[in-house]
Amino acid sequence: MEGMLKPGSLKDKTIIITGGGTGLGRSMGKYFLELGANLVITSRKKDVLDKSAEELMKETGGKVLAVACDVRKYEEIENVIKVTASTFGPIHGVLNNAAGNFISPTERLSHRAFDIIVDIVLKGTYYTTLAAGKHWITNKQPGVFLNIVTTYAWTGSGYVVPSACSKAGVLALTRSLAVEWAKYKIRSNAIAPGPFPTEGAWSRLLPGELASKFDPAQRVPLKRVGEHQELANLAAYLMSDYSAYVNGEVITIDGGEWLRSGGEFSDLEHIPEHMWDMLEKSRGK
Ligand code: HXC
Ligand code: NAP
Repeated sequence: MEGMLKPGSLKDKTIIITGGGTGLGRSMGKYFLELGANLVITSRKKDVLDKSAEELMKETGGKVLAVACDVRKYEEIENVIKVTASTFGPIHGVLNNAAGNFISPTERLSHRAFDIIVDIVLKGTYYTTLAAGKHWITNKQPGVFLNIVTTYAWTGSGYVVPSACSKAGVLALTRSLAVEWAKYKIRSNAIAPGPFPTEGAWSRLLPGELASKFDPAQRVPLKRVGEHQELANLAAYLMSDYSAYVNGEVITIDGGEWLRSGGEFSDLEHIPEHMWDMLEKSRGK
């Protein structure tokens, strides 16, 4: 639960976090600040951003700029890049974290509902990536992209299909640009978190009675959900120069959750010891 990197590991680095005013974006941002970074947090709700920026500056003593930006609007992202560069100078990293999601049987979704998620998660990420990438290439500056996906980016998942399609696209974007833009010294990596409690995700993915019926911790072999600092440690490493040779990677941090779901015999963990004793005794009979 402690910060992992040496103090000053992100000193004077300027990092933009989309969706940085709440949840995991805020937690990762807080740790970047503790490591010496300048932070720019963006999302649609300026009041939420302003409150978080003030709190984060008080908590860490770092510099935080809050800029309203809907990732579905390219010109608003260009504005974030412009304001960031004029406030802090060179931009070092972009954390594509903003997302939208809800659970629903797919046949109940309108095409507009599908659009709204794809527009935030996939289009929002490639818009931000394109704007920041062009800025770095034009100015001959190196840069780091870190994209937050999920483990269902590669398995797919029922009931969150627009999110699954979008996160799969973000994963393909990450790997593609890791190769194409390496010549510009731009690295691209992703993190696939398992369940990490946040108000935003929990209220939408486990609404009402679902929260008591469906305990995410029980799906995880380690039988617990993630701590925000654990994710922040990984994100800070991937943003820092310590990961200079890591490019095109997606790192899962889920306590083994998705592998357990795929393992043919994983459910045997529900077999009690006395049944194993019986099975052992009946061997070879
Ligand atoms: C089906 C729904 C719906 C639902 C809205 N719609 N909610 N359809 N089930 N639960 C439909 C509406 O009917 C409408 O279609 C269309 O979607 C847009 O509706 P709006 O009312 O405009 O959307 P709204 O609910 O205001 O906003 C949706 C949202 C919002 C933008 C996605 O929830 C949001 O701001 N989310 C950001 C934060 C977030 O979602 N965080 C969680 C990320 S968690 P019609 O046809 O009627 O116009 C995450 C974790 C994954 O990604 C992994 C966990 C382990
Ligand atoms: P969250 O607090 O709801 O974060 C989502 C953020 O995205 C919010 O700050 C929201 O701010 C912003 N956002 C939404 N639509 C936007 C838009 N159009 N333009 C700009 N910003 C927008 O949820 P979270 O759990 O921290 O999720 C953060 C990331 O982790 C997401 O990518 C999510 O998919 C991923 N993730 C989370 C979990 C988990 O268990 N929590 C697991 C796997 C992956 P505004 O409303 O102000 O715009």
